[in-house]
Amino acid sequence: MQRGKFLTIEGTEGVGKSTNLAFVCDWLKTRGLDVVVTREPGGTPMAEEVRSLLLSKRDEPVDETAELLLVFAARAQHLAQVIKPALARGAWVLSDRFTDATYAYQGGGRGLNKAVIEELEELVQGDLRPDLTLILDIDVELGLNRARQRGELDRFESETIGFFERVREAYRQRAESAPDRYRLINAGATLPEVQAEIDSVLSELL
Ligand code: TMP
Repeated sequence: MQRGKFLTIEGTEGVGKSTNLAFVCDWLKTRGLDVVVTREPGGTPMAEEVRSLLLSKRDEPVDETAELLLVFAARAQHLAQVIKPALARGAWVLSDRFTDATYAYQGGGRGLNKAVIEELEELVQGDLRPDLTLILDIDVELGLNRARQRGELDRFESETIGFFERVREAYRQRAESAPDRYRLINAGATLPEVQAEIDSVLSELL
């Protein structure tokens, strides 16, 4: 059985991840592929509980290393229960965020050491990496305004503009560092334009 492909979608807040994730999912299913759609943090009952811990606003300051370890704890469970079994049976896995979010948010946003993230990535994933990552890129303020219209903000969405500028920069650097693995998509374009670009990226992959 040939291993399925592992695709991830990333970006800062309000970038249109959900809409475009649904587009990618339909695109793949239309072509007869078995697709498992999932998300991080989360994707299993236990990892979803960790997600709630991470996203909820609290009075107690959250230690950055505690946050980092929670993200990877959820990921280990997600990999074991969902991602690896699906890939092994030949399904394609489409995840709303994965480890690039850790490099962007905990590395770029919080300023944690990249080498530490690399060590945890190795521990938790071994050599498993996404085959393709779409990074939706948009002006940070524009994205935050969109996110704010959705209602109450979670702990990450309540961060400063400066935080999200660093997150965006970290994503852009990752895209530049490995153009084979990443596609940086201009999410400030119209929806038909964004989806035409995604369509051409996916056609290339198939
Ligand atoms: P979202 O799924 O609505 O984008 O929310 C998930 C939040 O979690 C988002 O603000 C980014 C954050 N996050 C991290 O900080 N590190 C990670 O590794 C992941 C997967 C998400």
